[in-house]
Amino acid sequence: MKFFIDTANLAEIQEAHDFGVLDGVTTNPSLMAKEGIKGKDNVFKHYKAICNIVDGDVSAEVIATDFEGMIREGEELAELDEKIVVKIPMIRDGVKALKYFSEKGIRTNCTLIFSAGQALLAAKAGASYVSPFIGRLDDTGYDGIDLIEQIRTIFDNYGFDTEILAASIRNPIHIIKCAEIGADVMTGPLSAILSLLKHPLTDSGLKQFLADHAKVNA
Ligand code: G3P
Repeated sequence: MKFFIDTANLAEIQEAHDFGVLDGVTTNPSLMAKEGIKGKDNVFKHYKAICNIVDGDVSAEVIATDFEGMIREGEELAELDEKIVVKIPMIRDGVKALKYFSEKGIRTNCTLIFSAGQALLAAKAGASYVSPFIGRLDDTGYDGIDLIEQIRTIFDNYGFDTEILAASIRNPIHIIKCAEIGADVMTGPLSAILSLLKHPLTDSGLKQFLADHAKVNA
Protein backbone atom coordinates (compact mmCIF):
# COMPACT_ATOMS: atom_id res chain seq x y z
CA MET A 1 0.00 0.00 0.00
CA LYS A 2 1.37 3.40 -0.97
CA PHE A 3 1.31 6.24 1.58
CA PHE A 4 0.60 9.72 0.24
CA ILE A 5 0.40 12.82 2.39
CA ASP A 6 -2.58 15.13 1.87
CA THR A 7 -1.13 18.61 2.36
CA ALA A 8 0.53 21.51 0.57
CA ASN A 9 2.68 22.36 3.59
CA LEU A 10 6.34 22.02 2.58
CA ALA A 11 7.62 21.47 6.14
CA GLU A 12 5.12 18.66 6.70
CA ILE A 13 5.97 17.08 3.34
CA GLN A 14 9.68 17.25 4.19
CA GLU A 15 9.01 15.69 7.62
CA ALA A 16 6.99 12.85 6.06
CA HIS A 17 9.70 12.31 3.45
CA ASP A 18 12.40 12.18 6.13
CA PHE A 19 10.31 9.68 8.14
CA GLY A 20 10.98 7.31 5.23
CA VAL A 21 7.60 5.91 4.20
CA LEU A 22 6.29 8.58 1.85
CA ASP A 23 5.28 7.57 -1.68
CA GLY A 24 3.60 10.76 -2.90
CA VAL A 25 1.58 13.90 -2.18
CA THR A 26 -1.99 14.97 -2.87
CA THR A 27 -3.10 18.59 -2.80
CA ASN A 28 -6.35 20.37 -3.52
CA PRO A 29 -7.35 24.06 -3.89
CA SER A 30 -8.35 24.26 -0.20
CA LEU A 31 -4.96 22.93 0.93
CA MET A 32 -3.13 25.39 -1.37
CA ALA A 33 -5.26 28.25 -0.02
CA LYS A 34 -4.46 27.15 3.55
CA GLU A 35 -0.78 27.79 2.77
CA GLY A 36 -1.65 31.25 1.37
CA ILE A 37 -0.45 30.33 -2.13
CA LYS A 38 -2.15 32.56 -4.71
CA GLY A 39 -1.60 33.55 -8.34
CA LYS A 40 -0.73 31.07 -11.08
CA ASP A 41 3.06 31.65 -10.93
CA ASN A 42 3.20 31.07 -7.18
CA VAL A 43 0.96 28.03 -7.39
CA PHE A 44 3.17 26.50 -10.10
CA LYS A 45 6.34 27.34 -8.13
CA HIS A 46 4.83 25.65 -5.08
CA TYR A 47 4.02 22.47 -7.02
CA LYS A 48 7.61 22.46 -8.29
CA ALA A 49 8.90 22.83 -4.70
CA ILE A 50 6.77 19.86 -3.63
CA CYS A 51 8.11 17.79 -6.56
CA ASN A 52 11.65 18.63 -5.47
CA ILE A 53 11.05 17.08 -2.02
CA VAL A 54 9.08 13.95 -2.81
CA ASP A 55 10.12 10.81 -4.72
CA GLY A 56 6.70 9.97 -6.14
CA ASP A 57 3.47 11.25 -7.60
CA VAL A 58 2.20 14.74 -6.79
CA SER A 59 -1.49 15.41 -7.50
CA ALA A 60 -2.19 18.98 -8.68
CA GLU A 61 -5.84 19.95 -9.16
CA VAL A 62 -7.30 21.99 -12.01
CA ILE A 63 -9.54 24.93 -11.13
CA ALA A 64 -11.44 25.06 -14.43
CA THR A 65 -14.72 23.15 -14.63
CA ASP A 66 -15.19 23.22 -18.42
CA PHE A 67 -13.52 20.72 -20.77
CA GLU A 68 -11.31 23.22 -22.65
CA GLY A 69 -10.20 24.93 -19.43
CA MET A 70 -9.35 21.62 -17.74
CA ILE A 71 -7.32 20.51 -20.77
CA ARG A 72 -5.42 23.81 -20.91
CA GLU A 73 -4.68 23.85 -17.19
CA GLY A 74 -3.93 20.12 -16.98
CA GLU A 75 -1.43 20.23 -19.84
CA GLU A 76 0.38 23.16 -18.20
CA LEU A 77 0.49 21.33 -14.87
CA ALA A 78 1.74 18.11 -16.47
CA GLU A 79 4.56 20.01 -18.17
CA LEU A 80 5.83 21.27 -14.80
CA ASP A 81 7.31 17.95 -13.70
CA GLU A 82 6.99 14.28 -14.61
CA LYS A 83 5.80 13.58 -11.03
CA ILE A 84 2.65 15.66 -11.56
CA VAL A 85 -0.67 13.81 -11.75
CA VAL A 86 -3.50 16.05 -12.97
CA LYS A 87 -6.40 16.04 -10.52
CA ILE A 88 -9.80 16.32 -12.19
CA PRO A 89 -13.19 16.64 -10.46
CA MET A 90 -15.89 14.01 -11.05
CA ILE A 91 -18.17 16.07 -13.28
CA ARG A 92 -19.37 15.52 -16.86
CA ASP A 93 -16.61 17.57 -18.51
CA GLY A 94 -14.16 16.02 -16.06
CA VAL A 95 -14.91 12.53 -17.42
CA LYS A 96 -14.26 13.83 -20.96
CA ALA A 97 -11.00 15.36 -19.76
CA LEU A 98 -9.94 12.06 -18.14
CA LYS A 99 -10.42 10.32 -21.49
CA TYR A 100 -8.49 13.05 -23.32
CA PHE A 101 -5.54 12.92 -20.89
CA SER A 102 -5.50 9.11 -20.89
CA GLU A 103 -5.15 9.11 -24.70
CA LYS A 104 -2.35 11.69 -24.41
CA GLY A 105 -0.47 9.61 -21.80
CA ILE A 106 -0.98 12.25 -19.08
CA ARG A 107 -1.73 10.68 -15.69
CA THR A 108 -4.87 11.72 -13.80
CA ASN A 109 -6.48 11.47 -10.38
CA CYS A 110 -10.28 11.75 -10.43
CA THR A 111 -11.30 13.49 -7.22
CA LEU A 112 -14.52 13.97 -5.23
CA ILE A 113 -15.63 10.34 -5.67
CA PHE A 114 -18.53 9.45 -3.38
CA SER A 115 -20.12 6.47 -5.15
CA ALA A 116 -19.09 3.25 -6.89
CA GLY A 117 -20.79 4.46 -10.08
CA GLN A 118 -18.57 7.54 -10.17
CA ALA A 119 -15.47 5.37 -9.68
CA LEU A 120 -16.59 3.04 -12.50
CA LEU A 121 -17.07 5.98 -14.86
CA ALA A 122 -13.65 7.42 -14.03
CA ALA A 123 -11.96 4.04 -14.55
CA LYS A 124 -13.71 3.56 -17.90
CA ALA A 125 -12.49 7.02 -18.96
CA GLY A 126 -8.92 5.93 -18.16
CA ALA A 127 -8.19 7.66 -14.83
CA SER A 128 -4.87 6.60 -13.30
CA TYR A 129 -6.31 7.06 -9.78
CA VAL A 130 -9.78 7.50 -8.28
CA SER A 131 -10.06 9.33 -4.96
CA PRO A 132 -13.04 8.19 -2.84
CA PHE A 133 -13.39 10.50 0.20
CA ILE A 134 -13.85 8.16 3.16
CA GLY A 135 -13.92 10.64 6.05
CA ARG A 136 -16.39 12.99 4.38
CA LEU A 137 -18.74 10.04 3.69
CA ASP A 138 -18.48 8.92 7.33
CA ASP A 139 -19.40 12.49 8.34
CA THR A 140 -22.73 12.14 6.49
CA GLY A 141 -23.66 8.83 8.14
CA TYR A 142 -22.49 6.52 5.31
CA ASP A 143 -19.62 4.06 5.73
CA GLY A 144 -16.71 5.26 3.62
CA ILE A 145 -14.96 1.90 4.02
CA ASP A 146 -17.92 0.12 2.34
CA LEU A 147 -17.33 2.29 -0.73
CA ILE A 148 -13.65 1.24 -0.90
CA GLU A 149 -14.78 -2.40 -0.75
CA GLN A 150 -17.33 -1.90 -3.56
CA ILE A 151 -14.82 -0.16 -5.81
CA ARG A 152 -12.18 -2.87 -5.16
CA THR A 153 -14.69 -5.56 -6.21
CA ILE A 154 -15.71 -3.71 -9.37
CA PHE A 155 -12.15 -2.93 -10.46
CA ASP A 156 -11.09 -6.55 -9.83
CA ASN A 157 -14.14 -7.94 -11.69
CA TYR A 158 -13.10 -6.15 -14.86
CA GLY A 159 -9.34 -5.87 -14.45
CA PHE A 160 -9.26 -2.05 -14.37
CA ASP A 161 -5.74 -0.87 -13.61
CA THR A 162 -7.01 2.43 -12.15
CA GLU A 163 -5.59 2.70 -8.63
CA ILE A 164 -7.88 3.23 -5.64
CA LEU A 165 -6.53 6.21 -3.69
CA ALA A 166 -8.43 6.25 -0.40
CA ALA A 167 -8.70 9.95 0.49
CA SER A 168 -10.09 12.00 3.36
CA ILE A 169 -8.42 9.57 5.77
CA ARG A 170 -8.92 10.68 9.36
CA ASN A 171 -7.50 7.93 11.61
CA PRO A 172 -5.43 4.73 11.83
CA ILE A 173 -8.50 2.48 11.58
CA HIS A 174 -9.26 4.00 8.16
CA ILE A 175 -5.73 3.13 7.02
CA ILE A 176 -5.82 -0.43 8.38
CA LYS A 177 -9.29 -1.17 6.94
CA CYS A 178 -8.21 0.21 3.55
CA ALA A 179 -5.10 -1.97 3.64
CA GLU A 180 -7.21 -5.05 4.49
CA ILE A 181 -9.52 -4.39 1.55
CA GLY A 182 -6.65 -3.70 -0.81
CA ALA A 183 -6.86 0.02 -1.55
CA ASP A 184 -3.75 0.79 -3.58
CA VAL A 185 -2.98 4.10 -1.87
CA MET A 186 -4.04 6.07 1.18
CA THR A 187 -3.73 9.83 1.51
CA GLY A 188 -4.11 11.67 4.78
CA PRO A 189 -2.38 14.02 7.18
CA LEU A 190 1.01 13.07 8.65
CA SER A 191 -0.72 12.69 12.05
CA ALA A 192 -2.80 9.77 10.70
CA ILE A 193 0.32 8.02 9.39
CA LEU A 194 2.19 8.61 12.66
CA SER A 195 -0.76 7.29 14.67
CA LEU A 196 0.06 3.83 13.24
CA LEU A 197 3.13 3.87 15.51
CA LYS A 198 1.17 3.86 18.73
CA HIS A 199 0.54 0.91 21.04
CA PRO A 200 0.57 1.09 24.86
CA LEU A 201 2.27 -2.34 25.11
CA THR A 202 5.13 -1.04 22.93
CA ASP A 203 5.60 1.91 25.31
CA SER A 204 5.44 -0.16 28.51
CA GLY A 205 7.59 -2.92 26.98
CA LEU A 206 10.33 -0.47 25.98
CA LYS A 207 10.19 1.20 29.40
CA GLN A 208 10.74 -2.19 31.05
CA PHE A 209 13.59 -3.16 28.68
CA LEU A 210 15.42 0.11 29.40
CA ALA A 211 14.83 -0.18 33.18
CA ASP A 212 16.20 -3.76 33.24
CA HIS A 213 19.22 -2.71 31.19
CA ALA A 214 19.88 0.23 33.53
CA LYS A 215 19.66 -2.02 36.66
CA VAL A 216 22.40 -4.35 35.42
CA ASN A 217 24.57 -1.58 33.96
CA ALA A 218 24.31 0.82 36.91
O1 G3P B 1 -7.56 15.90 -0.82
C1 G3P B 1 -8.80 15.27 -0.76
C2 G3P B 1 -9.23 14.72 0.56
O2 G3P B 1 -8.24 13.90 1.09
C3 G3P B 1 -9.79 15.74 1.50
O3 G3P B 1 -9.76 15.33 2.83
O4 G3P B 1 -9.88 15.81 5.24
O5 G3P B 1 -10.59 17.58 3.60
O6 G3P B 1 -11.98 15.55 3.97
P1 G3P B 1 -10.60 16.11 3.98
